[in-house]
Amino acid sequence: MIKIKSEREIQLMRQSCELAAKTLQYLEKHLRIGMSTEEIDQLCHDYTLEHGAYPATLGYHGFPKSCCTSLNEVICHGIPNKKDRLKNGDILNIDVTPKLNGYHGDTNKTFLIGKVHPEAKKLVEVTHMCLMESIKVVRPGAHLGDIGAVIQEIAHGHGYSVVRDFCGHGIGADFHEEPQILHYGKKGKGLEILPGMTFTIEPMINMGKMDCKILKDGWTAVTRDGSLSAQFEHTILVTEQGVEILTLLDQSEESPA
Ligand code: MF3
Ligand code: CO
Ligand code: CO
Repeated sequence: MIKIKSEREIQLMRQSCELAAKTLQYLEKHLRIGMSTEEIDQLCHDYTLEHGAYPATLGYHGFPKSCCTSLNEVICHGIPNKKDRLKNGDILNIDVTPKLNGYHGDTNKTFLIGKVHPEAKKLVEVTHMCLMESIKVVRPGAHLGDIGAVIQEIAHGHGYSVVRDFCGHGIGADFHEEPQILHYGKKGKGLEILPGMTFTIEPMINMGKMDCKILKDGWTAVTRDGSLSAQFEHTILVTEQGVEILTLLDQSEESPA
């Protein structure tokens, strides 16, 4: 069942999503070469609690940490740890999901650490473009397939692949609600988009092939061919007029870090 949010729920979503965006902004400011992903997690955990929220990934189906940190060939769901330290030239995705007053905000970005190879930087920029251009087609009467079609067109146009094993999702009082938001598809296909829907779009784009494997920890998804992978995620609200990006602090969009 797809939950159409009431005005009251939309207000609560605006607050949790604003906190999610601020959390990423706060973490970005504290990124340093040499720091461990565990330190990033600690900052995320403390910041979330200090703002009256709970990090929804912590304990989610047994996930042990307060955010996901996905480095280089990690597609998503990387587990923060003491061993992985940021190196010059890395690309690092941080995904945060505060639950505030019963509602979730979910956003992620891929950050450039130090001086990144131009080809890796290009992947990150194109992935960001996939997210932002796909958001532009969201409006009442459009179809979910329109979103995936835009993402595929941009990614394939640069010779990249779109990961199919993970998708975006409805979000609200539950972390993952219906519908699933596929990052591939055909224009005009799939469910019709309605006002009051809140969902994420979170394309994962690989420099090589789309295939994934899950490491022994049961969570970390990596590219099978070892190629780099980037991701960006926003939580959005469908309005009567079109779309509102709930996890964007300033509607004049920033480009990737
Ligand atoms: N935040 C991720 C998403 O965008 C989900 C992480 S679930 C976890 O949907 F358990 F891996 F943390
Ligand atoms: Co999500
Ligand atoms: Co997320």
